[in-house]
Parts: sequence; C-alpha cells; structure tokens
Amino acid sequence: MNETVAPGGAELRARAEIDLAAVRANVRALRERAPGAALMAVVKADGYGHGAVACARAAVEAGATWLGTATPQEALALRAPGAGVPDDVRIMCWLWTPGGPWREAVEAGLDVSLSGMWALREVIGAARLAGRPARVQLKADTGLGRGGCQPGDDWAELVAEALRAEAEGLLRVTGLWSHFACADEPGHPSVAAQLTRFREMVAYAERQGVDPEVRHIANSPATLTLPESHFDLVRPGIAMYGVSPSPEIGTPADFGLRPVMTLSAALALVKHVPGGHGVSYGHHYVTPGETTLGLVPLGYADGIPRHASSSGPVLVEGKWRTVAGRIAMDQFVVDLGGDEPGPGAEAVLFGPGDRGEPTAEDWAQAAGTIAYEIVTRIGSRVPRVYVNEEQGG
Ligand SMILES: Cc1ncc(COP(=O)(O)O)c(C=O)c1O
Repeated sequence: MNETVAPGGAELRARAEIDLAAVRANVRALRERAPGAALMAVVKADGYGHGAVACARAAVEAGATWLGTATPQEALALRAPGAGVPDDVRIMCWLWTPGGPWREAVEAGLDVSLSGMWALREVIGAARLAGRPARVQLKADTGLGRGGCQPGDDWAELVAEALRAEAEGLLRVTGLWSHFACADEPGHPSVAAQLTRFREMVAYAERQGVDPEVRHIANSPATLTLPESHFDLVRPGIAMYGVSPSPEIGTPADFGLRPVMTLSAALALVKHVPGGHGVSYGHHYVTPGETTLGLVPLGYADGIPRHASSSGPVLVEGKWRTVAGRIAMDQFVVDLGGDEPGPGAEAVLFGPGDRGEPTAEDWAQAAGTIAYEIVTRIGSRVPRVYVNEEQGG
C-alpha cells in the first residue's frame, strides 16, 4: 500500500473553493442580459453556501447596486462595518416575522418588504422610535401563493395605509415587487399570468400615488430568458454562483456562466479489500471482486446528500468514481477499482467541470434534487477558501 501523502499539499480535510472572479464574471454576464435594469445580487443563505460577504463584495465590484437577503439578520450583517459593502449599495430583505428586528433595519437604512398589514404596523412603530422614515417595498402575490399581499381588497388596503404613513413622513415606498412560481419552466402559463397581474397591481398602486424607485419580479431564470420581466431591477441568485436554475433551460455555459464552488476532500484512507466485502452502513454495496476502497472524509453533516448514496460521482486521479454504499454523517467510500492513490489524494465532488470533475448539477441528479440545494447545504465544517479575491482576477 502506498502510504505517501499525495503531492499538492492536501492540508485540509476538505474545502469549498470559491472563485470570486467567477462571481464577478457571472454578475457581468447577468447585467448584459438585463442592460436596462439594475441588478440585485441575492446573497441569502450565506450566499447560497458560498459566503455572503465575499460574494456580495465581488458582485458589487461587478456592478450590482443592490443586495438581497431573506432574513433581516442576514441583511444587517451586510451593513456591519467590517463587511466592506459600500454605503450607497441598497440592501433589501423580505422574510419577516412579528418582532422584527424592525427598528435596527430602519436605522440601518435597509429596504424592508411588507406583505401585509401586521408588518406595516410594526415598521411604522419602528420608524417612530427610530425617528427616521423606513424604506419599504410592497410585495404583491401575483400567483406564487407564498409571500406577498393578495390582489384586490388586501392590496388596496396595504397601498392606502402605506401612502397614509408616507404622507406622515414615517416611511417611503421605495419598491413594488413580486416573485415568480415557474420562471424556470419557459412557456408555463403562470409566467404570463403573473406578469399581467404584476403590471395591474403596480399600475393600481401608482394610480393611488405610489412613486417607487424600483419595480421588480425577475429571479435567475427570468433574468436569463424573459426580458419582458426585467422592469427596473433583476434579482438573480443561483445564476450569479454559476449554476443554471434548471437543466431544462440550459447549462451554465449556455448562458456564459461559470460555477463558483469547487468541493473537494483529501482521501483519508486507501485500502485493499477482497471481493464480497460489504461497504458502509447497511452493506448496500458489496465489492464485486478484489478492489481498493477510498475513504472520502465528507458526509451528510457536511451537506453531502444521503440520497446520493450509491450514486454520487467523485473524480479521483482523473477517473469518475461512484459513492459505494451509504453516505454516513462524516464520510463515505468510493470503489477505486484497484487504483492506489495515496492517502491525501484529491477527491473532487463537484466544480466547474473543466478538469473532468462532476458538477453540482450531477450531484443534484444523483440525489433527486436541485443544484440550489447541493451548494446551499454545504456545511460550516467545510472551510470556504476564496480565490481571485482581487479585482482583475
Ligand atoms: C424573493 C426572491 N428573489 C430572488 C431570488 C433568487 O432566485 P434564483 O436563485 O432562482 O435566482 C429568491 C430565491 O429563491 C427569492 O426568494
């Protein structure tokens, strides 16, 4: 058995390499798709697992003038002094629950999304305490059936009360916005229906006197494929990380996008085993003959989906290997077919694909999920290693 530690300095158990030049290039590519609109880089969920602050900064360097998050805590972290996000970059967050923190959000100058009257009342209270007007964006449910205010009486009431508060100097309605249900399914009838509804709800609010800075509805698939949805601002998330919103609409390369994350690990063990040897919990894999097994020190606690047991692909020494048996909490095994890479040899789970490695999409297919989930769930135990941090890289 070759016990030499593989060259290449595999000093980390595992790493998620984050290519910030790819973030910048992807944001530029997205801006070219929507030349008449500003761009909000969506960096919720720690930048879809890539690191919110680093990706936000890279996106801003490439021309994003807005940042978007789900929770107010995520947005406040981007406003923190050390984050290095310029003050003139607007930050919006949309997932609120009673209690806020509304006042902190108002004081930080965040754009806060309101879907209903309870939230309007809370933000008005916070604006009074803060002694400054809140920046609010009214969210319309144009058909997603998730967040957002229903059209009709609910929308009329929200618009009227927001205008009343605006007249009192307690807030400014900076945006009118919505979110698609099926933009990743081109031609889905809900897309046109939502656009019509959005135009109607915006027109209603504007007739009542709302004068928003931005109207927006486009996520990544809409930014890439639906120019009529771009309005004043596009809000791509997954595409800025170089992942296609859906294989049906195209690969990242089809849109000039480059995957940002490369997930790799150093093999923790390589050993010979006889044929008929059960592998990992449950013995769902049994070696078909004498072979070598490689131990990959990543598991479902690191976000490797257990559903990809016996199917997830890994590149080791230029060859695709498949997860052998169950993915455990911290580790899984690949059958190396008799090859003997040294312990420490690199196992690449996914990356851009240039070196022949699988992509996040390959893992999504292996696990029966979407690539969003693959990148977003990579756990905090896996260090993010940033490359090309300097602009020009
Ligand atoms: C409100 C909102 N806007 C934009 C996005 C970005 O979506 P995508 O990652 O598909 O571009 C999301 C993410 O789900 C979202 O929740």
